[in-house]
Amino acid sequence: MAKALKVGFVGTGGIAQAHLAAWNKCADAKVVALCDINPKALAASAEKWCVAPENLFSDYRKMLDSVELDIIDVCTPNSWHAKPTIAALKAGANVIVEKPVATSAREVEQMIAAGQEAGKLLMVAQVMRYSTEGQLCKHWVKQGLVGDIYWGRAEYLRRRGVPAWGAFTDAAASAGGPCYDIGVHVLDMALHLMDFPEPATVSAGTYLKLANKPSLMKHKIKRYTVPEDFAVALVRFADGRTLSLGASWALNTPQEINQVMVCGTKGGVTLWPPTLTTEQNGVLTNAGSQVSQFDGADGFYNECSAFAAAVKAGGPSPVPGEQALITQRILDGVYKSGEKQREVKV
Ligand SMILES: NC(=O)c1ccc[n+]([C@@H]2O[C@H](COP(=O)([O-])OP(=O)(O)OC[C@H]3O[C@@H](n4cnc5c(N)ncnc54)[C@H](O)[C@@H]3O)[C@@H](O)[C@H]2O)c1
Repeated sequence: MAKALKVGFVGTGGIAQAHLAAWNKCADAKVVALCDINPKALAASAEKWCVAPENLFSDYRKMLDSVELDIIDVCTPNSWHAKPTIAALKAGANVIVEKPVATSAREVEQMIAAGQEAGKLLMVAQVMRYSTEGQLCKHWVKQGLVGDIYWGRAEYLRRRGVPAWGAFTDAAASAGGPCYDIGVHVLDMALHLMDFPEPATVSAGTYLKLANKPSLMKHKIKRYTVPEDFAVALVRFADGRTLSLGASWALNTPQEINQVMVCGTKGGVTLWPPTLTTEQNGVLTNAGSQVSQFDGADGFYNECSAFAAAVKAGGPSPVPGEQALITQRILDGVYKSGEKQREVKV
């Protein structure tokens, strides 16, 4: 049997548990080292996932120096993605990093450069692509059933869904609000379906109107320092295509709206539920598939096993830094445009 890939973690909090479960299911990989600055989180994960005491660290640089690892899985809050990723790539490991890839295009460029210099793979954990819905929609687009896509729509609008756990609302740790937490999922999915066109401009509004009023929320918000609770944007691409983006944790709408849709010259595709809209015998027809809403658990296994296979094959990365750089440039544009209240080049 081929040797199992050795996996190490930086950050063993909430989402790391889903990644740990996924790696545990991968036959050709084994989690052998963990790092977290929080001793309780570290000890709990070590016990649950049976990681040897000598391979537990509070400093990722010590872990990189002490254990030879094939893959580092970075599950720290957004502001602390870039540094461990770059250090791990430089140390000769391949890196899968949680979304959003980083908090500025500059950081993403540095992450890409570190991977290129080391000859190692960088993958961004955009789990929605690995859901059944995501795979089915991409399959329809790849088959040419949609034709040339000229408009994308990416919306993740929660009515009262400000996270009251973790570091999501703390600007120092997370840098952005719903755009970085949930908007990036649907933005990446729409861009993936559109084959990552070159973005030109963004015109956005960013608002903080509801979420810093704890009485409106189910849970008490300790600290709310991220810039927005709602953002809306129109992205123009260099080739004339457009994409509408919306993301909120709190918004006065009659219902939650979570949707990714792309419209093309032959048809359209909608993610939830996966639907293909085309003309059939002179009638505009919706053909769909009844799959479950966002099958996240399988998604995490699918993305980890895709990365393991890519590492074994020597590439390419299933979700490369270059694609995440386009996503990040758009998100940088959303915040800049929202702040300046005018269209910006990205
Ligand atoms: N794919 C998804 O659906 C999904 C869902 C939730 C979160 N996320 C992303 O995952 C990341 C982590 O979110 P979370 O909810 O797991 O947060 P969390 O706060 O539950 O866990 C983060 C962990 O990182 C540790 N940490 C912080 N700095 C560190 C450092 N320098 N070295 C080592 N450990 C460090 C913290 O102590 C904590 O245990 C975020 O970027 C978030 O956007 C993705």
